[in-house]
Amino acid sequence: MKILVLHGPNLNLLGTREPAVYGNFTLDEINTELRKLGNEMGCEISIVQSNSEGTLVDTIQSASGKFDGILINPAAYTHTSVAIRDALSAVAIPTVEVHLSNIHSREEFRSKSFVAPIAVGQICGFGVDSYLLGLQALCRHIKK
Ligand code: DQA
Repeated sequence: MKILVLHGPNLNLLGTREPAVYGNFTLDEINTELRKLGNEMGCEISIVQSNSEGTLVDTIQSASGKFDGILINPAAYTHTSVAIRDALSAVAIPTVEVHLSNIHSREEFRSKSFVAPIAVGQICGFGVDSYLLGLQALCRHIKK
């Protein structure tokens, strides 16, 4: 099973970016945890982080036929990007949306996700565990 993990804008700053909101883990540490869990579950993981909407759209398009699932934290593009949602719909690869913070308990604009309606599901509010729970849920969904 092959899973594409996508991290959106500003997630490269994790570790120093608003630690009270996003925690102290760096993106490298999150990726290490994901790879460890992926190994345990027998899935091969490829990871891409980009601050650019176009790069994320290109990466989603090129996932077609190569990946069984997508785990995505679209970060700020969650709340703005019809292009990322349309790319995910176009490739029709089962997708789980994750967020470190609880986007529903923060500013009102964060509670709207363009991706959630076309995702298998959304997990938020558990810090790094949102990613790990998301990966588990995605793999179990694909195996069914
Ligand atoms: C985030 C939540 C978004 O609202 C925000 O723009 C981010 C990170 C999260 O993981 O909690 O950059 O996706």
